[in-house]
Amino acid sequence: MTANIVKNTLFLKRRQESPYNSGFYKEKDKHANYTSYFSNFAKNNFTIIMSEQLFDDLHIFHSLANELITDFNEKGISSKINSKDLLQKFNLSLNNEGLEDKELKELLKDLILHTPKTSGKLFFNQLFGGLNSKAVLGDLLAVLLNNSMATYKIAGPMVEVEKEILRKISQLISYPDSSGGTLPTGGSMSNFMALIISRDKKCSKSRISGNTQNLICYTSENSHYSIGKNASFSGIGRENVRYIKTNEKGEMIPDLLRTEIEKDKEKAFIPFFVNATLGTTVMGAIDPIYDISKICKQHDLWLHIDGCYSGSVIFSKKYKHFVKGIEHSDSFCFNPHKTLGTPLSTSIFLVKNQKDLHDSFSNKAEYLYQTDDDEYNLGQTSFECGRRNNALKFWTLWKSVGTNGIAKMVDQNYHLANVARDYITNNKDYTLYSFEDSLSVCFNYKNYDPKIICTELYNHNKLMIGYGKHKGNEFIRLVSINRENSEENILNVFKVIETFCKNNL
Ligand SMILES: Cc1ncc(COP(=O)(O)O)c(C=O)c1O
Repeated sequence: MTANIVKNTLFLKRRQESPYNSGFYKEKDKHANYTSYFSNFAKNNFTIIMSEQLFDDLHIFHSLANELITDFNEKGISSKINSKDLLQKFNLSLNNEGLEDKELKELLKDLILHTPKTSGKLFFNQLFGGLNSKAVLGDLLAVLLNNSMATYKIAGPMVEVEKEILRKISQLISYPDSSGGTLPTGGSMSNFMALIISRDKKCSKSRISGNTQNLICYTSENSHYSIGKNASFSGIGRENVRYIKTNEKGEMIPDLLRTEIEKDKEKAFIPFFVNATLGTTVMGAIDPIYDISKICKQHDLWLHIDGCYSGSVIFSKKYKHFVKGIEHSDSFCFNPHKTLGTPLSTSIFLVKNQKDLHDSFSNKAEYLYQTDDDEYNLGQTSFECGRRNNALKFWTLWKSVGTNGIAKMVDQNYHLANVARDYITNNKDYTLYSFEDSLSVCFNYKNYDPKIICTELYNHNKLMIGYGKHKGNEFIRLVSINRENSEENILNVFKVIETFCKNNL
């Protein structure tokens, strides 16, 4: 104990002498709390086992975070660096000798300020954007805790943090108490897990002796590419995926699904899995879940709902009707990292019957599972062994704003999409290609080539936005996924495009 007191006195002295304790803290009063937090922590904890260096590095983190956030707010976009110039521009080589903290900090600063800003007001390129600060808080704590979610012994209360999220989502989609789930590494993995469970349900031998039958799965031609990849990983085979045609809006046509299933049955193939997309990647289209669920029931097929993009509508009273019939599905996933601002990656995967998940993913491991039962050893229902704590960030956000607060975030995304659509439909220079009730707003401006506009806006550091294709038309895709945006931020996208085209193209 005495040794620890001496150690901590020295430690506190070192904190006070730290170069980060002078200008930086005077600069912003609120940051003083940060010092007192660590001082109190040190005073009250005589059994510190974390390296003192960590405190210094957290000061560096705080200082760099300050720079980064200021840069986000001032510029909104980072200057593009040509991929071939990276090694020349930054000192990235890993050498025998390390760098001093001061140099390392400068290098890190240079790197982060030049990394694309996905939370800026000029970022509309991917299906994620903007960070929720409470989710960031939760995630930073998860990094410090560095648990793995595999067992109760190493995750402790975090197990119930994860289980509470799963229970509440299950209630929102009217799944029974027997349901369960996990938080995999992302949406592609959630879709993979659904495919594996349904394969094992249809053909229990595949788990042990491999696939011997011609199992067939179905998804729309507009579904995410992970479905095809997962078919190859799972031994189903890419040729055994049937891509069902969609209507003008990009929604799967149920009659064509039924026809394909019947054709496969006639050939003695074994249909087993249907993926319905709740928010297709380009058009944001929603497959008719209820109609598809009736076909699945009739043919005894597993129905998975890929809600990675638009699945957060389950929180919204205004938009929940999009998921009509979801309770008839067998599994469901959605990505809070896409529309709710939780850091990458946060994907939530639910199965109607927890036992099915356990049957496919549990494994004996005496070295690992040494206390508690499988209900609390979450490694028995996940793909990964060492699994990151992806629950805490979403739980921290949810706890801080409540279910009603999340509903408002969802509604705001749709509101901002409506603002963009209204601008387009009221301006004859634009052509709209997407439809109402979608977070994707797809359009072209005059006769400009969308590929050229998007690429040149990026090359000139003006705006990050992408292009897509549907039914032979190519267009710019504005995704309304950052609810932190204001209406002005959305309208600014059009102003930037118009000014840029006038001056540059
Ligand atoms: C509809 C849909 N499903 C699945 C995914 C994959 O999610 P992730 O990027 O988390 O693997 C995406 C990604 O954009 C998507 O749009």
